[in-house]
Amino acid sequence: MYLSIWFGILVGSAGCSSSDKQSSTADQSAMLAQGNPLAGRLNNPSSLPNVPPAGAKISYSQVSITQPVLAMTFDDGPHPTLTPKLLDILKERNIKCTFFVIGKNAKAYPKIIQRMLAEGHEIGNHTWTHCSLTSRSDAQIRSELQQSEDALVAAANYRPHLIRPPYGAINTRIKQLMFTEFGYPTIMWSVDPQDWRRPGSSVVTSRLVNGAHPGAIMLSHDIHAPTIQAMPSMFDQLLAKGYQFVTVSQLMNMEKANMPVGVVIRPALPVTDKDPTPLPQ
Ligand code: NI
Repeated sequence: MYLSIWFGILVGSAGCSSSDKQSSTADQSAMLAQGNPLAGRLNNPSSLPNVPPAGAKISYSQVSITQPVLAMTFDDGPHPTLTPKLLDILKERNIKCTFFVIGKNAKAYPKIIQRMLAEGHEIGNHTWTHCSLTSRSDAQIRSELQQSEDALVAAANYRPHLIRPPYGAINTRIKQLMFTEFGYPTIMWSVDPQDWRRPGSSVVTSRLVNGAHPGAIMLSHDIHAPTIQAMPSMFDQLLAKGYQFVTVSQLMNMEKANMPVGVVIRPALPVTDKDPTPLPQ
C-alpha cells in the first residue's frame, strides 16, 4: 500500500508543470495555515530553523521510571578540599554521581576532574564563569560553553554531554541552541534542598531523604562544608530504603530503554581462526 502511495507521488511530481508548482506552493501555504510543521519549508532548506528534531527531549528535571533509582548531582566545583572528601564518601559506598563543574574550576583542579572520571562519575558543563545564560548574547553563551568544554578536554580528554544552567536561568530558545550546537540536553532537578542557603547539614539530609523519588534528579553543591557533612547520612538512609544512585546519563538511558538498572548487554566475543569453538548457548 505504501509503495503505491509513493509511486503516485513520484508520478505526480514528474508531471508537474510550472502552474502545478504554483498550485503546489499554494497548497503548502494552506497546509502551513493548518499547522503542518513541514509545509512551506519543503523547497527552501535555507529557511529551516535551528531547532531539534521532532520528538527530541532536550530538557530533564526528572525521568519517568518506577524503579527506586535516582541521580545525585553536585554543582559549582570542583572544590580543592571538599570535593575530594565527597569523592571518598562516594567511593566507600560505590555510589556514582554527576558533577556539573565550572570550567574555571576544572582548569584550576584538573587532578580532581581526572579522579572523578577514574572513579566512574559523570561530568557536565556548568559554564566557564557561572554566568546567567539568559542575560548573555548567543556569542557569549557559545563562548561560556566552549571554554568550559575545552577545559575538560585539556584536563582529562573528556567531552561533556550535559549542561546545567547556572541559577537555573534558562529559556526554550537557549535550550534549543545548546542542544543543536553542542548536543547538550539541559538538566534541571526535581529535588532542591536549598543547601546554598546553609540551613545546616541535618536539614539538607532530611530535605533530600524526604524529597527522593524514583527517577529524581537531586541538586546540591560540593562547595559548602555542611553539604558534604550531610551526605553520608543522606546516602545511607536512601540506600537503606532500597534506592540506587546512578549518573544522570544512566538515568536518562533507563527512561529511554525502560530497562532495569544493572542489566549489562554482553559484548560479542572475538572469534578467531584458532578458536572456532561455538559460543556457549
Ligand atoms: Ni551553579
